[in-house]
Order: sequence, then C-alpha cells, then structure tokens
Amino acid sequence: MVAITRVKQSVITPAEKAPEPNLGSELIPKQRYTTPEFMALEWEKLWTKVWLVGCREDEIPETGDYLTTDIGTESLLIVRGEDGKARTFYNVCNHRGNQVKFDHSGNSRTLQCAYHFWEYDLTGRLVSVPDEQDFTQGCPKDQLSLKTIRTDVWGGWVWFSLDPEGESLQEYLGIIPYHLGPYHFDRMAMVMNVTVESDCNWKTSVDAFNEVYHVQCIHPELSYTIDDVDVQIDLYDRHNRYLVPYHTYSPRLGYEPHEVPEILSNQLKAVGMNPDDYIGRVGEIRSAMQDYKRRTQQERGVDYSELNDDQLTDNYHYMIFPNLTLNIFSDRMMLFRQRPHETDPNKMYYDVTVHVRVPDNQPRPPMPDHEHVAFGERSLGLVLDQDAVNLPHVQKGMNSAAFEGLWISSQERRIRHMHHTLMKYIEA
Ligand SMILES: [Fe+2]
Repeated sequence: MVAITRVKQSVITPAEKAPEPNLGSELIPKQRYTTPEFMALEWEKLWTKVWLVGCREDEIPETGDYLTTDIGTESLLIVRGEDGKARTFYNVCNHRGNQVKFDHSGNSRTLQCAYHFWEYDLTGRLVSVPDEQDFTQGCPKDQLSLKTIRTDVWGGWVWFSLDPEGESLQEYLGIIPYHLGPYHFDRMAMVMNVTVESDCNWKTSVDAFNEVYHVQCIHPELSYTIDDVDVQIDLYDRHNRYLVPYHTYSPRLGYEPHEVPEILSNQLKAVGMNPDDYIGRVGEIRSAMQDYKRRTQQERGVDYSELNDDQLTDNYHYMIFPNLTLNIFSDRMMLFRQRPHETDPNKMYYDVTVHVRVPDNQPRPPMPDHEHVAFGERSLGLVLDQDAVNLPHVQKGMNSAAFEGLWISSQERRIRHMHHTLMKYIEA
C-alpha cells in the first residue's frame, strides 16, 4: 500500500493566467500626471474613496502606541486602544484645529492636544477640557470626539478608508488575501522603513514598477538575474500582477552565459549554496535553487509547503490599487507606497519598506526607525536608485508642450489597466 503524504496546502497562490480584458489602445493623457485639476479630482474621487495602508500592525503593538501618517492634505492618527484594536482618527483637535500629535510615533495613555490641553481617550472620546464651564456654546465633551476613520487589518497592516461608507476592506482587496495568504506577511518582520520626497507624480513612480520593458535600459545588471521577457501579466478586477522569473538570465542577451555571473553567484551564496560546486548550466540555476530551498527548508527553519516551486525564486509582483507595489519572494517582500503631495502634482512621497521572513529558530529583528529623507540623501540600493534618478526627468518631460501622453506597449499594459481602474473612480 502506498502512503500518501498530504502537503499542507489549505490555500495556494493561483499561478494560472487570467483572461485578458480589452482595455483599448488610446493614448493616456499626460494631464493626469501634471495638472492641479486632475490632482483635485483624484483627491475627491480616489484618495477619499479607496482603502489605504496606514502602518504595520507591529509599529503600534502596545496600548497607547500611536503613529501619524499623511495622505494629501490630511494627517491621520492611528492608535492602539485598551481593547487591542487599532483606530484611525483625523489628527486634529476639535477645539482650534491644532494637530493632536506632531511626531511620527510614540506612546501615550491619552491623546492630549498641546495647545490648550483638551484630552481625548484612546477611543477618540473627549474626556477633559480645562475650564469647561467657560464655553458659552455649552460643554463640548459630548459633541467633539476625534473624527474616526474606518480602520481594518489585513496582512499585518493597518488599513484605513476616508470614505465613511462604501465597501469593506475585504471587498476592496478582492483576490488579494486569497492570492497572497500563503506568504503570511503578518509573520514577516520589517527591517527598513524609508520615506523619500520625490520630484514626480505618484503615478509616474507606480508606472515604473509595473513594467519590465525598461529593465534592459535602466537596469542592465539585472539581465544577469531576471528573465524580463517571459513575464506573465494578469489583470484582475482592479488589482494586477506580473510573475517575473528570477535567478536566471535575460533572453535579450541573445546567449546563455557560460560562467555563472557574479550577481547569480552571490545569490547562490545567499541561500547557502556554494557556487564553486555548481556544475549545471546557468539557465538551470533557477530550478537548482528551487530544489535546494525545498530540500533544506526544515534545517533552515522555514516552511515552504504553501508555495509552489516558482515562488521559491521568482518575484510574484502585485499591484494593489492604487498605490501599493509588492515585490514578493519566499523569504522577503519589498513594499513601495506612493503618496500624493499636498499641493503639487509634480511631487510625491515614496515609502519603501522591506520585510523579511524570520526562520522559526531565530529571534525577530528590532523594528527599524522610520527615516524621512530628501531625494538623494540616502541610497535605496542600486536598482531603486537607478529608477529614482530617472523619474524626475520623466516628470519634467511630461510637462513639455511637445508631449501629449503615454504610448503604451502590450508589455506595459499593467499601466493601462491601472488607468482603467483609476478612471472608473474618477468618472463614478
Ligand atoms: Fe526600474
């Protein structure tokens, strides 16, 4: 009798190709990237309607932990309550409009405005007003709680929506929890948290990560570690993805390298393989690495049973509409979040966070400090620096009278899909 070993796969990430929607072929007008008018429309119809990531849950683990985050002209205050729940408030005291918290994060048992010491509890209720009998309109305590914003959690993030009604986070995310559940982001630890002020529209930056057409030009080094041709693109209801084979070489090279390129050699070492022992072809490194990771998962203290072989090497690259890009690997995930500037469509805030899977036998690394830097003040690593240097030039060029709009190829169709979804919101 043959013993059947049942692999624990309660949920798996679907790998099959999604049907292609017909998204037309029109030029994407450049005004969506450059004008205050479109920026205002985006505020009214997009940013105030969608669900957005506020912070990691473990950035506010304890009662009274708080964190401030900005979206457009608004500052929001995310707070861990006594009941363990995360809540989001508009970060404004209802007395004279002062911001309740000025700093990025901290801990306090009550939320006291520094201007006149009006004090709110962790549920946002106004609990103390100095000289409260002095208000001719009446005691404000029952009327002036902090304004609460809808808040929910998924994937280890606290999400918020400025829309007081509308769909739930679960409805909004749609396929995402089903597709990405096997990676267990909630168990990953954040190891880098940087915000860069950047001179481009938020979509200029989002677009740069949703196509690999530019890889051969801006990132020539990656030709020796990714296949930027055989990329599966899937366009879903509002989110999309591409699956990029990693730890291989680009067919654009026109030949298979004879020697293991240095970048691939370093990647073999990083997973514990000795490149000197590798005797196969360069084009077989990817499957050798998958095999090695699968065989050694137990001794490395990780469980890959919910991931398919390709997920052990490749970038399952998801875009959660409108402004989240996830570079997802079996052992790490890099999240980009682009946030609009308060007033200028030619600027944005670019948040980069890196998260790692912590092996069962190892302690979690400490939470990194949040760094907020000007452009060029800090390197984000070679590849992201290459993108960052280029994007202000794209923005400048889009403002030229000579440029009309984006002329999009099939391999860039995630950008068209994103605009399709964007315009559904704008025209709603
Ligand atoms: Fe790039």
